[in-house]
Amino acid sequence: MTPALMDRHDASPAFEIQGDTITPLREVQPGMLLKFEGDNAGGSHKVRAARFIVRSGLDSGEIVPGHTTVIEKTGGNFGFGLAIACRAHDVPVELAVGLSFSPVKRRCLELFGARLIGLEMLERGASPREVVEWHLQNQQELQRSYFYTDQFRNAASVAAHELETGPEIVAQLQAWPRVKKLTFVACAGTGASLVGIAKALKSAGYTVEVVLVEPQGCDSRRGVFTEHKLEGMAVGVAPPFLDWSLIDDVRTVDYEAVLDTRKALARSTGYLVGNTTAACLAVANTLAPGAAEDAKVLAILYDHGLWYAR
Ligand SMILES: Cc1ncc(COP(=O)(O)O)c(C=O)c1O
Repeated sequence: MTPALMDRHDASPAFEIQGDTITPLREVQPGMLLKFEGDNAGGSHKVRAARFIVRSGLDSGEIVPGHTTVIEKTGGNFGFGLAIACRAHDVPVELAVGLSFSPVKRRCLELFGARLIGLEMLERGASPREVVEWHLQNQQELQRSYFYTDQFRNAASVAAHELETGPEIVAQLQAWPRVKKLTFVACAGTGASLVGIAKALKSAGYTVEVVLVEPQGCDSRRGVFTEHKLEGMAVGVAPPFLDWSLIDDVRTVDYEAVLDTRKALARSTGYLVGNTTAACLAVANTLAPGAAEDAKVLAILYDHGLWYAR
């Protein structure tokens, strides 16, 4: 029995959670709204992108339950989303996860039902991309029919945020009826969440200023990237979905400021946020309009800080 099939036999049946699954929008300090995407099942905003991508693959017939195996290279959040979205349709998931990612994340991806592939290749120095390519080239021998979700090229992820996350925020903003202007402080890996949410807010009639946050030393517009610890943003390629005409300002942030912001928020609110979130909040802190009634700063709580605790 192949590991993928074994996994399916071991699997508990997918169950659709009943009750409220909308992630909260909270004013965590005066003037600053935070959308708690870390509260999604799967722990981040990327589960929405994964769900939309899997759904569009099913609709187009590129994913056939019982036949197709989904394959992707990921360090974490998107992988959790794929595992969840595919489990609901009984579709196996195989992930190439770089060895630099935390062992805890690797174990959790397996716990969520994904199969990690290419360990030997990775140990010999292959990149996750090469692992995926090798598997795609050898699918016949491997007795697989793969669908590569290719999150950096699959625009269904933008739709996820334009049609789901963004409108959800718009509905929740009714709790602040006087607000007309938003400063949206966000980062970009693929750029899908920034673009999808910004477009949804604008088409709902808000005046939106978009501030892109980058790690110090990176300049995505010019394709300049350095090593940094803010996993998920400025990932070494220009964010494919980033529409630069939406960006009003770009701010960089250093790691010390990220750690300080994470600590301060944990102490003042009890929420431990991930590094990319803390990076955006560090910038947002310099912009928050305080008690202005018609304006708020908006940021996304992308994922939980425990992943990054050392
Ligand atoms: C923790 C975290 N923050 C931010 C991002 C950026 O999201 P997007 O790909 O929508 O630009 C990612 C993407 O994987 C992420 O994992």
